[in-house]
Amino acid sequence: MDKKIINIAIDGPAGAGKSTIAKMVSARLGCIYVDTGALYRAAALYITENSIADEDIAVELANADISLRFVDGAQCVYIGDRDVSGLIRTPEISMAASRTSAIPAVREYLFETQQRIARENSVIMDGRDIGTVVLPNADVKIFLTASAEKRAERRYKEMLAQKDCPTFSEVLADIIKRDEQDMNRETAPLRQAEDAVLVDTSDLTLDESADEIIRIIREKTE
Ligand code: DC
Repeated sequence: MDKKIINIAIDGPAGAGKSTIAKMVSARLGCIYVDTGALYRAAALYITENSIADEDIAVELANADISLRFVDGAQCVYIGDRDVSGLIRTPEISMAASRTSAIPAVREYLFETQQRIARENSVIMDGRDIGTVVLPNADVKIFLTASAEKRAERRYKEMLAQKDCPTFSEVLADIIKRDEQDMNRETAPLRQAEDAVLVDTSDLTLDESADEIIRIIREKTE
C-alpha cells in the first residue's frame, strides 16, 4: 500500500527560525524540508541579473526554469542547470526577493512548482503563504513567530562572522522593513491561517521549538 503523504505548512516572518527548526523537525520525522523562500530568492536573482522590468516579468520568468533539487534530503535551488543556492543568500537578494515576491506574476510562476512537490512527497514546507494559499488543505499548519528584536538579535549573531557585518540597528531596521513589505502586500500577504497553531519562539531554544512543533504534529496526525 502507498505510504500516506503528509503535508505540514510552516509560515512566519523573516528570522523566526523557520528554516533551522523545520530542518530539525523534518530530519526527525523523515520527510523532505522545502524552503520556498529559496524559490522567491532565485526569481529575484534572475530578475536582477537580467534587469527585467516589472511589466516584463510574466513573459520573461516563463523562460527562467527555476527548480528545486534534493540531494540526500538537502535542498538546492537551480536556474536552468546553474546551482544558485549560495548566490541567493545576500542581503541585496533578501530585499529584492521581498519586493519582487509581491508581484502576482512571480507568485503565479512559483505556485505550481510548490504544489507539485507537496503532491508527490511528504513535506514540511516553509514560507509566507503556505497555509493560506499554496497548501490550504495541509494536514498541519504552524505559524512560527518571535519578536522583531529577538529575530534581529539571532540574525545579527549569525552575521557577526561575515566580513561586512551590518550593525544591530541595521539588521533590526531590515527585519522591520521586510515584515512591513511581506504583511502589507496585496497578493498573498503574510498572515496566520485561521486553522494554524501559533508558536512564539521568542523565549524558546531551537530544541524546545522543534519539540513543540513535533508535539503539535503528533497531536494533529496520530
Ligand atoms: O524565507 P526567506 O527570507 O528566504 O524569503 C525571502 C522572501 O521571499 C521574503 O521576503 C518573502 C518572500 N516569500 C514569499 O513571499 N512567500 C513564500 N512562500 C516564501 C518567501
